[in-house]
Amino acid sequence: MKNTAGTEAAKRAAGEAAAAEATDGDVVGLGTGSTAAHAIRDLGERVAEGLDIEGVATSYQSRALAREVGIPLLSLSDVARVDLAIDGADQVALDENALVKGGGAAHAREKVVASAADEFLVVADDSKLADRLEHPVPVEVLPDALARVERAVRDAGGDPTLRDAERKDGPVITDNGNLVLDCDFGTVSEPASLARELSGVAGVVEHGLFVGMADAVFVGDDDGDVRRT
Ligand code: 5RP
Repeated sequence: MKNTAGTEAAKRAAGEAAAAEATDGDVVGLGTGSTAAHAIRDLGERVAEGLDIEGVATSYQSRALAREVGIPLLSLSDVARVDLAIDGADQVALDENALVKGGGAAHAREKVVASAADEFLVVADDSKLADRLEHPVPVEVLPDALARVERAVRDAGGDPTLRDAERKDGPVITDNGNLVLDCDFGTVSEPASLARELSGVAGVVEHGLFVGMADAVFVGDDDGDVRRT
């Protein structure tokens, strides 16, 4: 399900280019995943050199990495606005300003942080670009609402699959204690409309469609070059 085609060089280039946007005094949203991790490591190096920022983590994973590299952290529950948020994506349709996120099952907190950000910077290798979104959409679901949400996803034209944990029996449990349905809608012709429909289903905690939220997308390629759009 997760797009792992991009090279580390491309991911690093994108992550570091976005991290360079942080300046003294900023509160920075720290995304989840391998591309955002490059940004976090780079920010950690700059903090060691004197950059004065505070981070807000979007997952246990990004919190652990931020601690490891020495970024001072605020608790998300205390934060109403951040200066910039840097996060990855599973697929990016540039022309529609639409993303699929949630390959790391962190999209609920990621959306809270992105929506609180003055600037939401997306970092991606060029394998993530698509003309239209067609990546399955992760939907975080209250466990007791699983059957109800599966039905609603089918009614909306999707094919839901409960995400299983790779290294143990049983489903993936999010940092919030919920389940994830990966919902295949084929090509998503109207992302904003699908996003509204999914948000309206009782039992959906959050879905991974981010429509109209990105302020900039940093796209890295295998040569380490970055295009900002
Ligand atoms: C986690 C996410 C990630 O940002 C997305 O899955 C991209 O990850 P990666 O940079 O490792 O490809 O949305 O919930």
